[in-house]
Amino acid sequence: MTDTTAHLDAIRTHIAAYCDSQFDTAFDPDNPMVRLHEPTFGADEIFAATETLLSTWVTMGRQVRTFEAAFAGAHDFAEGVMNNSGSSANLLAIAALANPATQDGLQPGDEVIVSALSWSTTVWPLIQLGLVPVIVDIDSDTLNIDPGEIERAIGPKTRAIMPVHVYGNPCDMDALGDICNRHDLALIEDCCEALGASYKGIPVGGFGRVATFSFYFSHHMTTIEGGICTTNDPALAEMVRILRSHGWTRDTKDPGPLNATYPDIDPRFLFVNLGYNVRPTEMQAAMGLVQLPNLAGYVKARRANAAYWTEALAGHASVLGLQRETEGGHHSWFGFPMSIAADAPFRTAAFRAYLEDAGIETRPIICGNIAKQPGLQANPHRTVGDLSKASHVMSHAISIGCHQAIDDAARAYVVDRILAFLGTNQ
Ligand SMILES: Cc1ncc(COP(=O)(O)O)c(C=O)c1O
Repeated sequence: MTDTTAHLDAIRTHIAAYCDSQFDTAFDPDNPMVRLHEPTFGADEIFAATETLLSTWVTMGRQVRTFEAAFAGAHDFAEGVMNNSGSSANLLAIAALANPATQDGLQPGDEVIVSALSWSTTVWPLIQLGLVPVIVDIDSDTLNIDPGEIERAIGPKTRAIMPVHVYGNPCDMDALGDICNRHDLALIEDCCEALGASYKGIPVGGFGRVATFSFYFSHHMTTIEGGICTTNDPALAEMVRILRSHGWTRDTKDPGPLNATYPDIDPRFLFVNLGYNVRPTEMQAAMGLVQLPNLAGYVKARRANAAYWTEALAGHASVLGLQRETEGGHHSWFGFPMSIAADAPFRTAAFRAYLEDAGIETRPIICGNIAKQPGLQANPHRTVGDLSKASHVMSHAISIGCHQAIDDAARAYVVDRILAFLGTNQ
């Protein structure tokens, strides 16, 4: 056994012992706590990241390429380009589509239809790249973009739709695909909160020209921070690779043709476009490679939590405003949202405070109605209709955690507390 192997074995053993003794997410009835999230990573991921760090091969390289191929392969996408966050994935996807060198891309001033219930960095890259977001309302039951509102929003400058699969509930992709076909629109899927979700057996992200995913700490699987752009268009993937890394050719799959066009410039430092630096590290990819095979199990646990709560609270579904899984969709339950009815006999703030006091953490749903956020109001955009459904979610909805670490006792505790609250607030 070499010294290296002996050291690594000892490190692995110590990390495992540390995690065994320190990581405990079991529900404690004496100190009840149901967090929005608990880490999905443990000893194996920490060892993988540590081993990579110790190897000193830390900047984007072999592990990132391996992770990209594994992620794309697991979802049946032709290409995956990893980067440092879901927000960066959105930035790269839009920047690549809006790049003058991209065929059938987007032009400055083009309109892109987005849901009012989107994340900030779903919408910001559109504005940053000279496009105009057009904000439309949601369907109150699924919380996803309403296809009827999309039809209503389409105008002469509309070129694309960028839906969010809200909380992992797949959008009605038949309806969206049909609209895109009839109006010749590009589809950009923001799947950042929808890892593990699918529609009619096809993983989300497989419907549009480009899609994005996030591996942030609190998501279904994590690389701490991290994201990926996926596409079946090799030229678009190559553009994403150029933009991810300074605008140079060095990190492309096939730098040969571009390098040959500029024989006088050192190919290691050939800059062909206006790029960023949003590269991931090898440590992130090493963690992702350990996490990826566990994703299906994490999603199964989330679906079991949601099924349990949906059934146990069915008698109060309308007052609690439980989210409905899209027909044909396989929801991956990023959290468990509740949109309290306007005529409920209690205030949402009182419900939220009650849950927080009971140790059940809560949060709002994404950004609420993005059109009400100052960052959007100060910038070019168009709204369609009164967006009252997204506004209702902003003022009346909360979500609780729905993750893999919620055990039977925690699930039952949540139901017990919600029913107790409803019992005293009729
Ligand atoms: C719909 C959506 N898009 C984009 C993002 C951004 O991802 P990240 O936090 O990795 O930047 C998020 C964040 O959770 C999100 O919910």
